[in-house]
Amino acid sequence: MKKLEGKVAIVTGGGGAIGRAICLHLAEAGAKVAVFDLTVDSTDKVAKELLDKGCEAAPFPVDITNYEAVASAVDEVGKKLGQVSILVNCAGGSAREKLAEYYTQSLDVIHWILNVNLFGALYCIRAVAPIMVKAEEGTIVNVTSIVARGGKKKQVEYGAAKGGIIAATKSLALELGRYNINVNCVSPGLVSRDKLDDEKSFAHRFSCMNRVCTQDDVARAVLFLALPDSDFITGQDLAIDGGRSLGLKGD
Ligand SMILES: NC(=O)c1ccc[n+]([C@@H]2O[C@H](COP(=O)([O-])OP(=O)(O)OC[C@H]3O[C@@H](n4cnc5c(N)ncnc54)[C@H](O)[C@@H]3O)[C@@H](O)[C@H]2O)c1
Repeated sequence: MKKLEGKVAIVTGGGGAIGRAICLHLAEAGAKVAVFDLTVDSTDKVAKELLDKGCEAAPFPVDITNYEAVASAVDEVGKKLGQVSILVNCAGGSAREKLAEYYTQSLDVIHWILNVNLFGALYCIRAVAPIMVKAEEGTIVNVTSIVARGGKKKQVEYGAAKGGIIAATKSLALELGRYNINVNCVSPGLVSRDKLDDEKSFAHRFSCMNRVCTQDDVARAVLFLALPDSDFITGQDLAIDGGRSLGLKGD
């Protein structure tokens, strides 16, 4: 029997690069996956990919910055797939095309980044946690960023949002532990989407290893934290960054 057989998992941002990889890993471990993302196209595409592999999945187009929409989508998950016991908050991003030093950043971008990365994740947890508490079972994994640990120029609002989630994770772990619910974060370093011409030299700028972080690196860590094997780990923030957050590399 697969380790997540019969479990229902919600993955927000499931239509995105890292989210899709997380959906695949959870589904291959036996979970029924509810793919949450903004558009019908993106959720349909990933859900179909999982169904084509013989896994169970369903698409849920939803804007996670709208609490009523989140609550109703979570309700639908219960009806279509069954009682949710795994939540992965992966929707978000730093709006790379809109990066600016904070003293010049537009309020629209600041609100948008905080809405998706911080409030969106908190809304999903608020909607799902009562179900987990009632069942006395659950796992929540939040995808944050090493930007929240070490800071980064032009990413003040992003670091604030992801840092808020790391802080919330610890308090949630304290509140929810007695209901057998563990809450953790993974903090990836830079995850490359494109094939790089000189991966090794690029990697050396962003890690102490010879390669860059991949979507699968993040997905494998999320899977580990979603498995029963790790159910005594809670309130932790696991860096998936090839050692980048260790600080000065000694050279
Ligand atoms: N790519 C990186 O280098 C990197 C590094 C560290 C952390 N992260 C984090 O990993 C997560 C995934 O990033 P990615 O690189 O796969 O980006 P991505 O853009 O491919 O995926 C993000 C997904 O979130 C969805 N989304 C955005 N706003 C939403 C909303 N309001 N409601 C529902 N869905 C929404 C998008 O549609 C998209 O599919 C993000 O939280 C990001 O901050 C990424």
